[in-house]
Amino acid sequence: MNTLVIGSQWGDEGKGKVIDFLTERSTVVVRGQGGNNAGHTVIAHGKKYVLHLVPSGILWPGKLCVIGNGVVLDPAGLVEEIESLRRQGVTITPENLLISDRAHVVLPVHRDIDCAQEDALGDQAIGTTRRGIGPAYADKARRIGLRTADMKDPSHLRSALQRRMKTANEELERLGGRPADPQATIDSVMKAADLLRPHIVDTIPVLNKAISEGGSVLFEGAQGAMLDIDFGTYPFVTSSNTSSGGCCTGTGVPPSKIDKVIGVCKAYTTRVGAGPFVSEDAEVADYLHGLGREFGATTGRPRRCGWADAVLLGYSSMFNGFHEMAMTNLDGLDGFQTIKICVAYKLSGKILIHPPALIEEWDACEPVYEELPGWRQDTTGCRSWEDLPVACKAYVKRFGELIGCPVGTVGVGPDREQTITVGD
Ligand code: GDP
Ligand code: IMO
Ligand code: MG
Repeated sequence: MNTLVIGSQWGDEGKGKVIDFLTERSTVVVRGQGGNNAGHTVIAHGKKYVLHLVPSGILWPGKLCVIGNGVVLDPAGLVEEIESLRRQGVTITPENLLISDRAHVVLPVHRDIDCAQEDALGDQAIGTTRRGIGPAYADKARRIGLRTADMKDPSHLRSALQRRMKTANEELERLGGRPADPQATIDSVMKAADLLRPHIVDTIPVLNKAISEGGSVLFEGAQGAMLDIDFGTYPFVTSSNTSSGGCCTGTGVPPSKIDKVIGVCKAYTTRVGAGPFVSEDAEVADYLHGLGREFGATTGRPRRCGWADAVLLGYSSMFNGFHEMAMTNLDGLDGFQTIKICVAYKLSGKILIHPPALIEEWDACEPVYEELPGWRQDTTGCRSWEDLPVACKAYVKRFGELIGCPVGTVGVGPDREQTITVGD
């Protein structure tokens, strides 16, 4: 059974926890897109881990983890992450972590370009994670990027870096940024390459062989479907295809081999960074922030918060082909008297059931809400569907109906055991 797990909203839906839950039944876990803009939190045996580039499956012994060709990889960032996971007691070797030789490399200058571009946009900034993700994907599309295959041979890497640094610095200066020191970049990338080299292989045959031999591959999506460069709130998106299609191009596993697509969603909605958010709500934000929740795992920024949006999720379910939803953070709604779900958008007096393409129109949309009674009860101790309050179960069922995709599991807390399978 090969299962794809992706974020269905704007990221931070709790993918890390869902992946961790499903890893037990899998043999391989693979990331196919994004970079260290991702921050996936897993709480296991009372310890908290935040994964950025390393697949969340690494926390389970005996599982093969793969960083696929569609990922953009910051070599020094990855080394730092591996070392910090090792300090937490996680075993990482060239046997359990493979890196595709076709993944693109994020250089320090990409981060500088990301920052310079964001600064130049002023109050129109996208609010990127400033990790150089967009500029690295731009290099890939412009066919001037460095790939992990270029890290295999040190002398080849040195000259490739020298060439790329020259043009990248010219670009940075045009944007008003301070040119980066080419030697410092070369030293840092060469040092990281030495450590990563044993992990770099052609992962495409490895993944396909694992499948043909009856293994179970779990695809770990990063970001969320509404940050997809094609389907999201463009230009307030990330620079990869975060939707289900991106998992195939990002790993070299064909669509015919995918058995199940799971969309992870929060019981409400959050977003970090700028861009339209029709169901954004100050009451929801104040409540969640007051509980110390909804601060970014990568940047620590407070996340914007609002009610669940069935327009967004219905659209997301359509282009991703979700078989079921994994709802997380249901306990985040425990304190509300009334819970709202956005069921349509209103734009200049017209009702929309799908989001508009034009960002100005998306921004101008007003939410049309359906209201449901809250349960005003702590659900974090619930361990089965029967344990959940009646109004809570009614919310989960209605949520699934409105987005046209059933909810398969709900999360009532960040720990491994706080996951409940939805009953009838
Ligand atoms: P990801 O990027 O999709 O993996 O999500 P993040 O790790 O960035 O953010 C999700 C946050 O929600 C993390 O702090 C998780 O520990 C937490 N979380 C996940 N599921 C649940 C849940 O069901 N209830 C609660 N209270 N927290 C959860
Ligand atoms: P995970 O995998 C939430 C957002 C940024 C910004 C936009 C573009 O943890 O869900 P980028 O740095 O990618 O160019 O920024 O995308 N963003 C995320 N938001 N979760 C993430 O990852 C994100 N990765 C990027 O905040 O709005
Ligand atoms: Mg996250």
